[in-house]
Amino acid sequence: GTVVLAYSGGLDTSCILVWLKEQGYDVIAYLANIGQDEDFDAARKKAESLGAKKVFVEDLRAEFVEEFIWPSVQANAIYEDRYLLGTSIARPCIARRQVLIARQEGAQYVAHGATGKGNDQIRFELTCYALYPSVQILAPWRIPEFYNRFKGRKDLMDYAQKHGIPVPATPKAPWSMDANLMHISYESGILENPKNHPPSDIFCMTKNPEDSPSAPDVLEIEFSKGVPVKVTHLKEGTSKTTPLQIFTYLNEIGGRHGVGRIDIVENRFIGMKCRGIYETPGGTILYHAHLDMEIFTMDREVRRIKQGLGINFSELVYNGFWYSPECEFVRHCIAKSQENVEGKVQVSVLKGHVYILGRESPKSPYNEELVSMDVQGDYNPCDASGFIKINAVRLKEYNRLQNYSFRS
Ligand code: ARG
Ligand code: SIN
Repeated sequence: GTVVLAYSGGLDTSCILVWLKEQGYDVIAYLANIGQDEDFDAARKKAESLGAKKVFVEDLRAEFVEEFIWPSVQANAIYEDRYLLGTSIARPCIARRQVLIARQEGAQYVAHGATGKGNDQIRFELTCYALYPSVQILAPWRIPEFYNRFKGRKDLMDYAQKHGIPVPATPKAPWSMDANLMHISYESGILENPKNHPPSDIFCMTKNPEDSPSAPDVLEIEFSKGVPVKVTHLKEGTSKTTPLQIFTYLNEIGGRHGVGRIDIVENRFIGMKCRGIYETPGGTILYHAHLDMEIFTMDREVRRIKQGLGINFSELVYNGFWYSPECEFVRHCIAKSQENVEGKVQVSVLKGHVYILGRESPKSPYNEELVSMDVQGDYNPCDASGFIKINAVRLKEYNRLQNYSFRS
C-alpha cells in the first residue's frame, strides 16, 4: 500500500521513511511548513534521496494563522491557566493537509513519528479518523518491531549510517523541540527533572529579558470580530495588515523584548504529568490585547458564558478534538460572541511584559457619562439602596444560621 508520512527532515522520521519502505510500503513524504526554521529544499532532496515516491512540501502558514491561531485568540485559549497551545493547534492543521494528500493520492495509510506516550499521537490520529474515517494509521513508535529495534538514538544513528541516511552534523540538543509560527516547545532529556533550570541559551524566538532593550515598542492593535486586522508601530508609523504579516511582526516585537516565556508542569491527556518550556512571543501579546478589547466591548453576562466556553475549547484542543461536534459547536458560539469585539488597543512591550496603555471602540457599552463621578447621567443613586438591600436578604438569613461572634 501507499503511506503518506508526516516527515520533518530529522533523524527519526528519516529512519521511519526507510523502515516503512523496508516493510514494503510506497512512501509519500509530506513536509508541512508551519513556520518552523527549516531548509525545506534540503529536506525535500533528502526525502527524495531516501526513496520517497513523491514529496510534498506544503506552505500552511497562512491557514495556520487564519484558521487555527485566530480562533484560539478569540477563545483566549489557555490550557491549565498558562499554556497557549502552540503545538496543540498545529497538529490538526498538519494532519488535515496530510489526509487531503492521502485522499488525493489514493493512499490508504498515513504515518507519523510521534511517540506512544504523548499528546501528539492522539491529535494527529483523531484528526485523521475524523476527516478520513477509513484511513489506516501507522505509528512506528507503537509498533514492537520498530521500537524494539530502535531503543535509543544510537540505534537510529547506526541504522542511518547503514542505509545512507545523512546523520545530523550538529550534536542533538539534550531536549526535544517542536517549533512553528506560534511557539517553540522544549521537553524531555535534561528537562525531565522538573527541578532542573533550563539553560539560558535554550530559547530561539525570544531574547532574555535581562538583555532586552530598555526602551519599549509601542503598538496599536486593531481588532475586528475578535481578530487582529492591523498592527501599527506608533513611533515608526509602519503597519501590517495581512494575518501572516501581523502575526510574524508580533513575534518579532515580542521576541525582541523577551515576551511569552513559561516553564510549567502540565497534565497530558494520556494521564501523566510532564514538564515543558515554551516561548510564545506574538501569541502572548495578542492574548493580552484581545482580552482587553473583549472585556471593553462585550456584555458582562455573555462574557461569563463565553469564558467557560474558552476553557472547554482549550481542553478539547489540547486533547486532540479540534474536529469534533462539540469543538465545532464551541467555536461557533465563540465566533458569535466576537461580533462586537472591535476597536484599537495600544500596548507597550518591554522586558518580558505587555502593558496595556489605552483602548477605543465604536462598539463598546462603556458609557463615560454613566460611570462618571462628576456627572449624574441616566442613573438614580437612590435606586442602589434597594438593590443592595435585596441582595442583603440572603446574607441576613445566612447570618441567622451561623454563630457569627459579631451577631447582634
Ligand atoms: N506538551 C505540549 C503539548 O502537548 C508540547 C508537545 C511538544 N511536542 C513535541 N513533539 N515535541 O502540546
Ligand atoms: C511525543 O510524544 O511525540 C511528543 C510529546 C507529546 O506529544 O506530548
